[in-house]
Amino acid sequence: MKKVLTLAALVMALSACSGQQANTQAEPVNISSLGKSEITDIRAADPAPLYPKRGKSIERTFVHQPPMIPHKADYPITLKRNGCISCHSPAKAKRMKATAVDPSHMLADGKLNNEYYNCTQCHTPQAENKQHLVENEFSTN
Ligand code: HEC
Ligand code: HEC
Repeated sequence: MKKVLTLAALVMALSACSGQQANTQAEPVNISSLGKSEITDIRAADPAPLYPKRGKSIERTFVHQPPMIPHKADYPITLKRNGCISCHSPAKAKRMKATAVDPSHMLADGKLNNEYYNCTQCHTPQAENKQHLVENEFSTN
């Protein structure tokens, strides 16, 4: 008796699950390969950003503004490596003719304070861009 009841419960449970059935009447989907179409339209390259001349820093617009980066800023900042510090650490800056990081970025033992590790979170590059970027309504007022 117990076995019969269990079986009945199982059958009921299974039939409850099969509420949705695949629509076998659906239209077939036609997917044409992208590889078949010919590429006729050749897009001109985007104009390259023009950074300020070497050795020129961008004037700051407010006190304690993180200075803008006057050069390209796609150096890797990863868990293992910080591409910026190889030129901007106080130890290397002079040789690389770069400005050393602000003393606030360093710990007393001469190591980089990891709170400042992600340089581009505060410093952003600035260039003459012929390409339209985004609107900026930043105001110091
Ligand atoms: C190959 C060396 C080198 C690397 C790598 C480098 N910089 Fe520079 N950076 C310079 C030099 C040199 C200057 C001085 C301006 C110049 O000569 O273009 C400078 C200027 C700056 C300035 C302006 C300082 C000021 O007082 O105006 C900031 C900010 C800056 N870099 C941030 C960064 C950040 C952030 C990175 C990583 C994304 C980075 N730099 C990677 C060499 C480097
Ligand atoms: C939390 C924000 C923040 C982060 C992260 C940060 N900075 Fe800065 N940085 C600043 C501010 C703010 C100043 C300006 C300090 C002032 O004048 O009071 C500054 C100044 C500088 C200067 C100019 C120093 C001078 O004497 O003119 C350099 C170069 C610089 N930072 C490089 C870096 C590099 C390289 C990194 C990454 C290792 C980095 N910063 C990370 C906020 C930041």
